[in-house]
Amino acid sequence: MAQTYNSFSFQCQAWCSQTKARAGLLHSPHGLIETPRFMPVGTLATVKTLTPAQLEAAQAQIILANTYHLHLQPGEAIVQQAGGLHHFMGWQRPILTDSGGFQVFSLSKLRQISEEGVVFRSPRDGRLINLTPERSIAIQNALGADIIMAFDECPPYPASRAEIEASLERTDRWLKRCINAHTRADQQALFGIVQGGVYLDLRRQAAESLVSLDLPGYAIGGVSVGEPVDLIHDIVAATAPYLPIDKPRYLMGVGTYREMARAIASGVDLFDCVIPTRLGRHGAALVQGERWNLKNARFREDFSALDSTCPCYCCQNFSRAYLSHLVRSREVLGFMLISLHNVTELIRFTQSIREAILRDTFTTDFARWLVQRA
Ligand code: GUN
Ligand code: ZN
Repeated sequence: MAQTYNSFSFQCQAWCSQTKARAGLLHSPHGLIETPRFMPVGTLATVKTLTPAQLEAAQAQIILANTYHLHLQPGEAIVQQAGGLHHFMGWQRPILTDSGGFQVFSLSKLRQISEEGVVFRSPRDGRLINLTPERSIAIQNALGADIIMAFDECPPYPASRAEIEASLERTDRWLKRCINAHTRADQQALFGIVQGGVYLDLRRQAAESLVSLDLPGYAIGGVSVGEPVDLIHDIVAATAPYLPIDKPRYLMGVGTYREMARAIASGVDLFDCVIPTRLGRHGAALVQGERWNLKNARFREDFSALDSTCPCYCCQNFSRAYLSHLVRSREVLGFMLISLHNVTELIRFTQSIREAILRDTFTTDFARWLVQRA
């Protein structure tokens, strides 16, 4: 089937001489995405506590939203009436929507998986909802994100080889149904998702099968589901070589410093994770590669900036002592300021890796992060 991606293209600008890392430019209908890049998560069409203006200041170039959550509330019909997700939420830069399958598997207790799709009970009002590959794509077409994701099955960890093989075959059939259901291929790029659990040969098979469908981008899914963290690296390193070098690669649900740096070294371009906003809402800050709980007594009388090297509004205007006070008092402003800092920090981390790749100093500048955890 001939598909065109009029306003969608990807170019590699530079390659690292020591690893498979690359710096790229991803053009989408709502603008440019410089890679490698971290994408903040805005599940319900809001990156929790942050305004679009704050996200722009944090150098966010693309954010995520979720089919599962937006279908339950407010429903895609209302988003469509608003003129699509960009208009609805007042964010004019690129958006990616996840397909909902993963969220049904991880969030919904009452669910039944069949060849047709997934039936689950709405946690909101108890009604039965049927999510199929066709429904997921129809919802994502209505939401109008620049990048949409295939409806996949994300098996739990651990799972047997036979279970993963059966699941992969189903995900492959679901992908073909997604491609057939997609009505806006000229405006929305549909990414396929490589599954395969921890079985590296199955990862390779899944990647090769996806690539034969010539999609505009490829994701690596099914990681960070409870497996030992070093396996993320093994899975990515075993999968990325079978993905085309001239298409963007996205590692789903991963946003820790070390795992991002190591995945970038294997040739991954995009990441998302709820970590920066979730930590922010609990009063924990990402600073210099560490997690700091601002409630800790050591911050009560510390009048220095959270991170004196950070350009964000939080670090430029407030002290650790003030943030500690806000968090201890459960003031909303504290959670907002720390979320703003955390999102800025992870985008800045991937942006500084990007700049290092362009200078070809990635392996020396980020040596600390490129080794396995001690
Ligand atoms: N988010 C994190 N992991 C996954 C995955 O395997 N599939 C989907 N659709 N979304 C994810
Ligand atoms: Zn900051």
